[in-house]
Amino acid sequence: MTTPLKIALIGAGAMGRQHAGYLAKEPAAALVAIADPFSPALAEETGIRHFTDHREMLDRVRPDAVIIANPNDLHVATAIDCLERGVPALLEKPVACSREEASRLIAAQRHHGVPILVGHHRRHNPVAERAKAIIDAGRLGRLATVTGMWQTRKPDDYFAMEWRRRPGAGVILINLVHDLDLLRHFCGEIRAVQAITQNALRGFEVEDSAVIQLEFENGALGSLTGSDGVVSPWGWDQNVNEVPLYAKHLDQSCYFLAGSEGALAVPQLKLWRYGEQRGWQHQLTCESHRFPEESAQQRQLAHFLEVARGQAEPLVGVADAARTLAVIDAIQEAARTGTRQVPLAT
Ligand SMILES: NC(=O)c1ccc[n+]([C@@H]2O[C@H](COP(=O)([O-])OP(=O)(O)OC[C@H]3O[C@@H](n4cnc5c(N)ncnc54)[C@H](O)[C@@H]3O)[C@@H](O)[C@H]2O)c1
Repeated sequence: MTTPLKIALIGAGAMGRQHAGYLAKEPAAALVAIADPFSPALAEETGIRHFTDHREMLDRVRPDAVIIANPNDLHVATAIDCLERGVPALLEKPVACSREEASRLIAAQRHHGVPILVGHHRRHNPVAERAKAIIDAGRLGRLATVTGMWQTRKPDDYFAMEWRRRPGAGVILINLVHDLDLLRHFCGEIRAVQAITQNALRGFEVEDSAVIQLEFENGALGSLTGSDGVVSPWGWDQNVNEVPLYAKHLDQSCYFLAGSEGALAVPQLKLWRYGEQRGWQHQLTCESHRFPEESAQQRQLAHFLEVARGQAEPLVGVADAARTLAVIDAIQEAARTGTRQVPLAT
């Protein structure tokens, strides 16, 4: 058996705790140090060495790889600190807070040649792999419309952390970034967007609700509706058995894709098609596709260890994640100006 990789964690809040839990179940890795200037709690509970400054931790502990789960607006600077020390990183999403920031990280990564895996963990979920395979096999025919939802009511104390109320956060950058990443993965690149956002439910500087229209390069049209302040069973986190924190409504779907030959409800992977006769007067048949139940986050971690050992290319690299950021920048601009926007190249 190979020696476990020494992993350090930067940011020990809600997500950092989850990463520590996945690490505890992974025999090929060992959590050796935690850096968090404000919260020593996780280090105290686990007996793992604590630092208040991640740079000091990197220099003194010299980990084989790091997991970065600090607030969004620190991602790029922290990742560059790791690159400069030659330490591969699993960087939580969003990769950056803007397309420009992401471009800075792309340049630094090319310069240092050290891998970064961006934490779009849904891509590691077997249900996402299976959905992509069904679409790529042409079972929907020509993809024409896509309807996505991520809607839930976050508890009010979620917003006690100031960074979650300020620019750099908001439901688009914190949550819909995952849906946009996955819709790009399923349907291809996004050519243009229009959007309406509002902050009336929570009254913060950042949006709590958004309705986004998407034009894909392959001609498909999409809509994505998101809110962190409404009662709803519709969203990946409620509909997929992935992160235990969220109450589950596993019989509900969050994405509906329709094409010239079939329609697919995700995550149930119900594929609707005509039999011999086509047309709205004829009954559709429904095939239910199965997929293995495996933790997306645990699979992401196993993949990250391969990336850190130089045995695999990141499934979601910085340039890929930056394209989702470019779409988000275009969405914010579309919402601000009420115009159709084309995402800029990264
Ligand atoms: N992949 C997912 O599904 C998912 C889910 C939740 C959060 N996230 C991401 O994880 C990150 C953290 O989110 P969270 O919900 O855990 O936030 P959080 O506020 O609970 O935790 C952030 C932690 O970072 C610490 N921190 C602040 N400045 C720091 C610094 N300079 N160095 C190290 N630590 C620092 C804070 O003290 C806090 O403990 C965010 O980027 C968020 O978008 C991803």
